[in-house]
Amino acid sequence: MRFSPSLLDEIKARLPVSQVVGRRVRLVKSGKEWKGLSPFNAEKTPSFFVNDQKQAWFDFSSGKNGNIFDFVIESEGASFPEAVERLAAEAGVALPTRSADAERQEKTRAGLVEVAQMACAYFEAMLTGPQGRVAREYLAKRGLTEAQRAEFRVGFASAERHALRDHLAGKGVDIATMIEAGLLVSGPDIPVAYDRFRNRVMFPIQDMRARVVAFGGRTLDPEVSAKYLNSPETQLFHKGSLLFNQHRARKAAHEKGRVIAVEGYMDVIAMSGAGFTETVAPLGTALTEEQMTLLWRMADEPILCFDGDKAGQRAAFRAVDLALSRLSPGKSVRFAFLPEGQDPDDLVRGSGGGALEQVLETARPLSEVLWAREIAAAPLDTPEQRAALERRLREAVARVGDSVARRYYEADIAARLQRIAFGGSPSYGGYRGPARPFGRERSYRFRDWRAFGGFDPRPQAPAVASPSLTSAPTFSGTNPGAAQEALIVLALDARRDLLHELTEELSSLAIADPPARELAQLLLDEHAFENESDALGAHNRAIRIDALRQRLRRKLRPGDDRFLAETFPATELEAVLRQAMGLHDLSRALRSQLRDAERALGGAEATEAEVAWLADIHSRVAALHQMPASSDSKESERSLDQVLAEAPVYKVLK
Ligand code: UTP
Ligand code: MN
Repeated sequence: MRFSPSLLDEIKARLPVSQVVGRRVRLVKSGKEWKGLSPFNAEKTPSFFVNDQKQAWFDFSSGKNGNIFDFVIESEGASFPEAVERLAAEAGVALPTRSADAERQEKTRAGLVEVAQMACAYFEAMLTGPQGRVAREYLAKRGLTEAQRAEFRVGFASAERHALRDHLAGKGVDIATMIEAGLLVSGPDIPVAYDRFRNRVMFPIQDMRARVVAFGGRTLDPEVSAKYLNSPETQLFHKGSLLFNQHRARKAAHEKGRVIAVEGYMDVIAMSGAGFTETVAPLGTALTEEQMTLLWRMADEPILCFDGDKAGQRAAFRAVDLALSRLSPGKSVRFAFLPEGQDPDDLVRGSGGGALEQVLETARPLSEVLWAREIAAAPLDTPEQRAALERRLREAVARVGDSVARRYYEADIAARLQRIAFGGSPSYGGYRGPARPFGRERSYRFRDWRAFGGFDPRPQAPAVASPSLTSAPTFSGTNPGAAQEALIVLALDARRDLLHELTEELSSLAIADPPARELAQLLLDEHAFENESDALGAHNRAIRIDALRQRLRRKLRPGDDRFLAETFPATELEAVLRQAMGLHDLSRALRSQLRDAERALGGAEATEAEVAWLADIHSRVAALHQMPASSDSKESERSLDQVLAEAPVYKVLK
């Protein structure tokens, strides 16, 4: 492009609209704006406004509006390049010089656009004509209406070898141009160039300005190996920097604040038909960086929707790395997985738009899919395997280009790793959505591992402990985690924005202390039903919450109330809380294991296996000490250490 967006922005930044307009229209200041008589209509009362902040003008008499370039075009009949050249000179912005080469290229491109347009019209005519009957039947069978065919400009290329070539030649297009447009197959070993697309339903690929620049063709012959064939790269068409249907989806995406990327052309058409007009697809290749950028221009969190098969899963996993390297604060992606064996087209036609909406609603955040990818990649049965998991995750997170986002990813991964270091609940990082895209074997393997790791979020049966154990200060009914539970719940109560971030974590946290558990439940309910107003219920809840707050505040460790101060930075608090929750799970797991160990040993002489068991608990505690510690976690570690040191079973080992 000769005039890049940044160049145009620079010109706009240097020239106030009032200055450009002021040469033709007498403007008077009116508040933040300028006002004058419309240059487009004779009028007595001013209805022409200029707003320099918005870099725009509005003419209410004619309905025209625009920026400085539009004004020069509208008021002087200049072409766009002329307007840019004039205003650039006025602004003192240098334009890139037009080389003879560039000029020639532009001419070819214009020629290619024209040829592609002619080919598109030809294919469309073929589809509606007598030769297109089989293709029409095929499309009807696949649920495409005539209106959809027209909207997407679907066409048909016949099985003949020279149909398009002869048609275009008859219109004066030379063979070389057809080859350059990617419409013919040619080469040193091919004496006569022939039509690239034969016996295919043709989907034109259009650029942002709706110009046809390439085609995707679906074969009608089930025996042909290439189901879809796309135009090759040409001067007009760069697969990686376009999205199928983007020019139509853009507006819908802006209106809905959402954009969906699916895998296939037919999926886009079916989804649009079902009302998901904000849908696009890459062009027969994996999503590229440029396409990712295009998606982010349409919405902050594009939903990448993948088929419920192995290929879809692979594609999703590849997209994880791409998104990681390009994400920035506020810009990420979500992943939606279709039910096994289905693509969006199948689902919409089989079960309707509601079913698809449900799939979209369960779209998982990037951080979760990264985690799921890595825990599914290899078994996690041994410490070495778990260490390898950590390394893989750290490598992936190191790809995050944005340093702020990377910091949050590091914290997220650290918290998740803590949870599983002792065989934590797989539900934390695993998939709970209806579609289980990562296969069953892995998740069961993970669950089995938990069987000897010990943390079970369900309420624990009361332990039958030996007298020596129950007399230990760390046991005997007291809950050393109560202070930590109080801190977690009170902090989330005080900072609802964090509650929003940590709802999932809170809901899967096992809380032993009844008032903390009750407050957590109230917070989660409130969060889930925040839009349902019920004045009386709200009033009673507020009273109850207040009472619980009082009780819990008394359980805090000395000094911990500083975390509850409004002035405590939210980002730091989030990290502290994540860590506290991770440690909380660990300490619960440990205590429950100690209880089991104590019960099993029961004062008798320890067998070799039992000693090994205790040694294992011990080594896990050692591992815990190597975890990154915040000011808060140090205390937790100490108290864990005490739990162990003071537990009778530990003394047996010594
Ligand atoms: P799919 O095989 O999932 O396509 O490939 P689909 O749209 O579901 O196919 P049908 O028509 O319903 O059977 C998804 C996309 O991958 C590219 C195409 O862009 C296709 O839309 N593709 C697929 C190819 O480029 N070549 C192929 O041989 C297959
Ligand atoms: Mn399909």
